[in-house]
Parts: sequence; structure tokens; C-alpha cells
Amino acid sequence: MRSLLITGGAGFIGANFVHYWRARYPDDRLVVLDALTYAGNRANLATLEGSPGFHFVRGNICEQSLDESLLREHAVDTVVHFAAESHVDRSIVGPGAFISTNILGTHALLEACRSVWTTDALAAQHRFHHISTDEVYGSLAQDDPAFTESTPYAPNSPYAASKAASDHLVRAYCHTYGLDTTITNCSNNYGPYQFPEKLIPLMIVNVLLGKPLPVYGDGGNVRDWIHVRDHCHAIERVLQAGRKGSTYNVGGDCELDNLSLVRMICEIMDRELDMNAGLCKRFPAARGGKRARSADLIKFVKDRPGHDRRYAINGRLIREELGFVPTTSLEKGLAETITWYLSNEQWWRAVMTGTYRNWIATNYSNR
Ligand code: NAD
Ligand code: DAU
Repeated sequence: MRSLLITGGAGFIGANFVHYWRARYPDDRLVVLDALTYAGNRANLATLEGSPGFHFVRGNICEQSLDESLLREHAVDTVVHFAAESHVDRSIVGPGAFISTNILGTHALLEACRSVWTTDALAAQHRFHHISTDEVYGSLAQDDPAFTESTPYAPNSPYAASKAASDHLVRAYCHTYGLDTTITNCSNNYGPYQFPEKLIPLMIVNVLLGKPLPVYGDGGNVRDWIHVRDHCHAIERVLQAGRKGSTYNVGGDCELDNLSLVRMICEIMDRELDMNAGLCKRFPAARGGKRARSADLIKFVKDRPGHDRRYAINGRLIREELGFVPTTSLEKGLAETITWYLSNEQWWRAVMTGTYRNWIATNYSNR
């Protein structure tokens, strides 16, 4: 039986991981530490509240004393560190929070682990798993080979730079203090509970609301898309059998340019709207189901400053060493995700009110 501290467990990937882990290892203790920023939502974990072995703590990872007390109180042997500021656009508008949470917060957590795990006898067996991103490697040209674990770091946005710094700290704590650490650098995730400021959920929601679908630049930027369930599976394999001090790249084997992806979302949603008169009634501003098509809403807008052109993952190491391969196709994963957003209208309407609306109004002149 393990005792896990999951930071950022009320956010998108963190919440998916908590549910994933609970379903597979029901006897493990799960302690979720989350500051509940705009991106964190306790409702994502509502079905677990009050269940034995599940604990939710609202708090900031930057508070080392809190981190330490949770490690001791719950005899934590495994940290899975998701907590971060995660949106590139926000890091361009205001990098401060990214430096604070992603760098200083990771450092506080590492210090807490060093203090507890290298002094307490009970923690002879421990693991600090750090969730990172492929963005630390920078941008690829069209014909460049995909990122491997030895591709030099070249982060381009404040977000990517802050994640790169946190990766280096994790590596250094393994090398210098002997902390048992692992890192995964994953590509673009999508799935349930993703905040509708990221490309896929934003497009789904805007199609339903009949709002413009903002595509940055020429829409030719390429990302490698992975369903969040596959990412959780990859993390599970690393926790089970990853080598101390190792880094593993995780991808979805699914490179696609943004414009094609947005068109694909429009087509799936048009099919849904065409078949379902009730849906058209629920979302009267949506285009599908009438003569117009959702793709008519596509609007090319000013590019993101410093926008990375292409990311691509070489997943050979994790495949050969740990047997991980992604299994959800984009077609299937997108259809499932769209169904989730259709069934959870209350969820996305609730998270898109208040501070989020103010932020959009202040920072995007083109929406
Ligand atoms: P998210 O923004 O949806 O969730 C982040 C969570 O962290 C939120 O619940 C938030 O409340 C919490 N948090 C933020 N600051 C905190 C602090 N100081 N203390 C405690 N909690 C805090 O992010 P996500 O998309 O789920 O990403 C999770 C992790 O995965 C991040 O580290 C991100 O860099 C990494 N990642 C994300 C993707 C992706 O496509 N979303 C891909 C690769 C890696
Ligand atoms: O690659 C992994 C990274 O993927 C994670 O580390 C980040 O946390 C996560 O946010 C994501 O970063 P991206 O910048 O790639 O994701 P985003 O959804 O913001 O954008 C995906 C692509 O779509 C990118 O090329 C920018 C473009 N885009 C995005 C938005 C929000 C648009 O064209 N229009 C939009 O409105």
C-alpha cells in the first residue's frame, strides 16, 4: 500500500490522475494538496470526498512547512507533483505566478521531501515524480527529428522556462541529495476537466455558444495530442518501474496542425448537432443542425508572441523500458471529450464565470 501526496490534484490532469489511481489502487492513501487557483476545482474530486483514505487539503506548495507536515502526518512515500501555473498565454501576460509556483513551489516541495525523507527512517523507500512538459525542448522545424530525452533544453515562453528550471531542480536533488526522483515530459493533453482556456475545450465551448473560434497565426503550428488517460497510464508505469533519476518523454503519437484539429472538432460537433434536435435547442447559437457549419466560426487572430511552431515526441525510451504506448486515437478521444463537455455544461459554465471572464476581457482584444 502506498501513501501518495498529489499536488495540483484538483486541476485537469491531477484530477484525472486521482480518479485513475483510485480506481486501480483503492487501498492507497491519497492526499491532494491544491491551492484552488482559477484552474483548480474541488468539484472535480466531489465523488471522492469523505471516502476512506482520501484527504483534500487546500494549500500552497510554496509553504514548505505545510508540505513537510503533510509528508509526516500521512507517512507519504510517493509525491506526484502536478501543481503548476500551466497556461502559456497567461505566462506571457504575467510571468510572476509561474516563477513563484513552478520554480519556488517545486523547490519548497523538494526541500520538504529532502528534510523528511532523508532524515526519517520510514522513508527509506520513496519517490518524487515530477510532471513536466515537452515545451522545455523548444520549437522544431517541420523536418526536425522528434524530441528525445537528450534533446537540449531551449524553453521559449516564461511557462516553458519555469518548467525547465523546475526539471533542473528535481534532477539536482537526485544527484546531490540522493532523492529518488523521476520526471515525465509530456505533450499536449486533452480530456475531461480541462479548463476551457486551452485549445480543445475552448473550441468545444465556443462552437456550442456560437462564438468565434480563434486560431493563432496561420493555424499551422503542430502539437502532439495525447488523451489524459494515456498520460495517467504513463505516469503509473513510471511510478511502478521507472529508474531513479530518469526522465521519460511521453507523447500521443499524434502530430496535428491546429487548423486541422479545429476543423476536426467542428466536424464531430456538426454531426452531433445534426443528429440531435434537443442539442440545437439547448444551444440555439450553435451553427450545426442548421444550414451553417461550425467551421464558419473559425477566425484567424494575431499570433501568440514567440509561438513555438512544432512539438513532437520520440516515445521510444518509455515504450522499450516500461512498455508504455498510448492507446486512445484522436478520433475516439475527441468524440469522448466532446460527449463529456456536452454532459457537463454546468461544470464549464461555472468555471468560466468570475475571475476567468475578467481575465479574458482584459487580455484578449480579439474575442
Ligand atoms: P491545471 O492548470 O489544469 O491545474 C493546475 C493545478 O495546480 C490547479 O488545480 C491549481 O489550483 C493547482 N495549483 C496551482 N498553483 C498551486 C500552488 N502554488 N500550490 C498548490 N496548487 C497549485 O494544469 P494541468 O493542465 O492539469 O497541468 C498539470 C501539470 O502537468 C503541470 O505541471 C503542467 O505543467 C503539466 N503538463 C500539462 C500538459 C497539458 O497539456 N495540460 C502537458 C504536459 C505537462
Ligand atoms: O505541450 C505541452 C503543453 O501543452 C503543456 O505543457 C501546457 O501546460 C499546455 O497548456 C499546452 O500548451 P500549448 O500552448 O501547446 O496549449 P494551448 O491549448 O494553449 O494551445 C495549443 C495550440 O493552439 C498552440 O499552438 C496555440 C494554439 N491556440 C491556442 C488557443 C488557446 C490557438 O490557435 N487559439 C487559442 O485560442
